[in-house]
Amino acid sequence: MLRTHNCGELRLADAGKEVTLAGWVQRVRDRGGILWVDLRDRYGITQLILEEGTADPALIDTVRGLGREFVVKATGKVKEREAKNDKLPTGDIEIDTTAVEVLNKAKVPPFLIEEETDGGEDLRMKYRYLDLRRGPVRRNLELKHKMAFETRQFLNAQSFLEIETPVLLKSTPEGARDFLVPSRMNPGEFYALPQSPQTFKQLLMVAGYDRYYQIVKCFRDEDLRADRQPEFTQIDCEMSFVDREDVLNTFEGLVRHLFRTVLGQEVGEFPRMPYSEAMSKYGIDKPDIRFGMEMSELNRVAQNKGFNVFDEAELVVGINAEGCADYTRKQLDGLTNWVKRPQIGAKGLVYVKCNEDGSYKSSVDKFFGQEDLKQWADELHAKPGDLLLVLSGEKDKTRKQMGELRLKMGTELGLRDPKVFKPLWVVDFPLLEYDEESGRYHAMHHPFTSPYKEDLDKLTDAPGEVRANAYDMVLNGVEVGGGSIRIHDRAMQQLMFKHLGFSDEEAKEQFGFLMDAFEYGAPPHGGIAFGLDRLCAVFSGVESIRDFIPFPKNTSGRDVMLDSPSKIEPEQLTDLHIKVDIRKEDKS
Ligand code: AMO
Repeated sequence: MLRTHNCGELRLADAGKEVTLAGWVQRVRDRGGILWVDLRDRYGITQLILEEGTADPALIDTVRGLGREFVVKATGKVKEREAKNDKLPTGDIEIDTTAVEVLNKAKVPPFLIEEETDGGEDLRMKYRYLDLRRGPVRRNLELKHKMAFETRQFLNAQSFLEIETPVLLKSTPEGARDFLVPSRMNPGEFYALPQSPQTFKQLLMVAGYDRYYQIVKCFRDEDLRADRQPEFTQIDCEMSFVDREDVLNTFEGLVRHLFRTVLGQEVGEFPRMPYSEAMSKYGIDKPDIRFGMEMSELNRVAQNKGFNVFDEAELVVGINAEGCADYTRKQLDGLTNWVKRPQIGAKGLVYVKCNEDGSYKSSVDKFFGQEDLKQWADELHAKPGDLLLVLSGEKDKTRKQMGELRLKMGTELGLRDPKVFKPLWVVDFPLLEYDEESGRYHAMHHPFTSPYKEDLDKLTDAPGEVRANAYDMVLNGVEVGGGSIRIHDRAMQQLMFKHLGFSDEEAKEQFGFLMDAFEYGAPPHGGIAFGLDRLCAVFSGVESIRDFIPFPKNTSGRDVMLDSPSKIEPEQLTDLHIKVDIRKEDKS
């Protein structure tokens, strides 16, 4: 070994020891003949000290010649520091250095490799290996490692087996777009990369491996957002001979275990909320329940008073922003402009100030008297000092807009503390979702999800009302996991495909293998998949999952370090039997 210790482990108790460290030079300071070097590795930073006059002049020259990020090996004696640094675990000691060997030089890095960096996103991505040296990114990957490790500990102890499933699969039209891989040996044919190992884990249940899991890469060709990457990691799980409660309890157990072992926290209840309640109270299927501010429908008290906008609306809905009656004109205009932005899309915002003296002041005083406004306030459980915010319009859109406004107000009022964790299960999702564009129903979760038996008679006449035995785990407003109890019967699976608009031939062609398997003794089964990157981000109190992925893609789906995706050689295309006009386009 080149080193006796790492740069994060020496303490006062080690004083007097002769040690050798190796790492990267974070900084060299040279003041009045005393030189300090901050030597950094994965474990921390240790300070080297050298004094002109005492140390060998050649050694002083070597140290003066060190640049940022040089890789060095340093030997010396651990001693107590005069000026201690209580911000560093090694801050009580320094190394009285007697030898420094440069193991490798480094060019000046394009950005600061410190806790706070001056590098922009693109630069950091281009030199990701340098960004990965920074404490914040490194701690994220350490957290991810710990999460994966503890997940395995927990699931292994419960008899789950970790089993691999293939990466080259078959493309299916359901879900997001597939990433495709051409097959050289099968001209004109393509594999697809897995969006999830869904059908394979179900086949493993048929095969009798009654508790499966896999920490597995999934690929989805969809537009990127802060919480989405084209390749991400799932903790994918499946169990046989279970009902919904068994699955929810098992995985509530997993998440509690992760909170306990990774964050040292006990979390409270995991309430179960039907999808319909999430939508009507929070305007979203992943409610952030760290704060209340629930939405209430105001149709009964706000319609038929001559205010056309409300009268013509399918829904009038309000929230109570407690203690905000003192919002200024400017703040209220700001909120109005915010809801009118195209991303939110509301036409306007009505407000009611509940004054301290018990009177009301609203933006629609012309249409509503004090008695009317009092009724609104009562519906929203408002008290003097509160501010009511009201939106109206088409039901689903308005709920969504109010859901966004609620989150904004929660953030503005400091009600979304990233260190507070409030998980819940959202249950009873609709089985099917109507898609305006294609003019047909899609499976809201996926086509293998079991419908509630008691809703089956609605499949033909009111397909949108059939509930699915599906569930999502939501943590602080983020969908961290989702799953369902599955169909395990061929006839039911066939019926489902029919309702999803598949012809018998299409269903057989795409999912015949699964339906065939269901005829050879498929046990009742269900499962869930967590987004590991998302879980890590929420545990860390941040929105973006990017820094939990060692080498992520940018918002255009590009790896700016590799400069990928990239063009390929014409010969490769020929090998793959692919004729593309890209070459023509290139010339133009
Ligand atoms: P679903 O599609 O809900 O379910 O995915 C499960 C979880 O994976 C995470 N996730 C993502 N994370 C990062 N980037 C993405 N692009 C991305 N897409 C999804 C989310 C989500 O909750 N096979 C089913 C699971 C099952 O039924 O067992 C499935 O994949 O946290």
